[in-house]
Amino acid sequence: MKKWQAEAPSNIALIKYMGKISSETNQPTNSSISLTLSQLKTFVEIEETASGKDTWEALKGEQYHPIQLGEKAQTRYLDFFSRLKDEFSIRGNFIVRSASNFPADCGIASSASSFAALTQVSYDCGRDSGCKELDLNQLSQVSRQGSGSSCRSFFAPWGLWTTEGECKSVDLPYNSENLLHHVAIVSDEKKTVSSSEAHLRVTSSELFLGRPERAHRRLEALMSSLQSENWESAYQICWQEFWDMHALFETSHPHFGYMNAGSIEAIQLGKSQWDNEGRGPIITMDAGPNVHFIYRKQDQDLFDGLKKSLK
Ligand code: PMV
Repeated sequence: MKKWQAEAPSNIALIKYMGKISSETNQPTNSSISLTLSQLKTFVEIEETASGKDTWEALKGEQYHPIQLGEKAQTRYLDFFSRLKDEFSIRGNFIVRSASNFPADCGIASSASSFAALTQVSYDCGRDSGCKELDLNQLSQVSRQGSGSSCRSFFAPWGLWTTEGECKSVDLPYNSENLLHHVAIVSDEKKTVSSSEAHLRVTSSELFLGRPERAHRRLEALMSSLQSENWESAYQICWQEFWDMHALFETSHPHFGYMNAGSIEAIQLGKSQWDNEGRGPIITMDAGPNVHFIYRKQDQDLFDGLKKSLK
């Protein structure tokens, strides 16, 4: 039976996509920008089967983090695969196998890489039987329908997703050549409130009023700080942004949250470098307890110091 394989990287948003205008098409209330995490990847394989239905199973291999998708997550993944099959005129049934080289569902944006990889593998399969050719923006917008943040994973080193429905890479002086990324895994427990649910709930927070405008202002300011290599200003903007998103979670009705004592400890470690040295990392969090640190290569000593302290 024929097989197709693809992989896609995760990404970490610095200006977050949180809140949707339409849940149907994952149209965001604000534009967002992310750094592509090229080392953190999801791998997907689809294999034809005569079983008469599509099924999911974990991709096995030493390089992969063990994964077990719950029933709801499997249904979401396979439902989207079914939409992709229609989109790319794919006939027949498949065993869909996937796994990542990092833990899923705990705030390292595994939905971004897994939906991007599923879209890519389906497109590759569809192309083999003559489906119409799409450019990268068009392909990313197909992927967006499965998981909004996945559209940014098609671009590197930065993915910009605008409310106009376009995704593209942006050229900035900071890139994968001169940045270092580390994520402090303070917990790899599965989250109890999914990001799809979070998108819905945050609109019930009083703080959601003005959120699209705040995100828009921050995006403009961040792009200009990164462009002019004002790292400290970029840190300040990203600091406000991740607290803003987590404050939305904590003030929703009903409220929820992802931070734990380990998250706070990790955040404080990164922050203390700024306080003591006058330089340090961009600190950010996704919808999960883990904390992301982005350093300039010139601050490798701080990067090494943080990793040592975290251990
Ligand atoms: O792509 P979704 O629907 O899983 O949304 C996730 C959005 C965040 O990861 C919380 C933020 C972002 O912009 O990536």
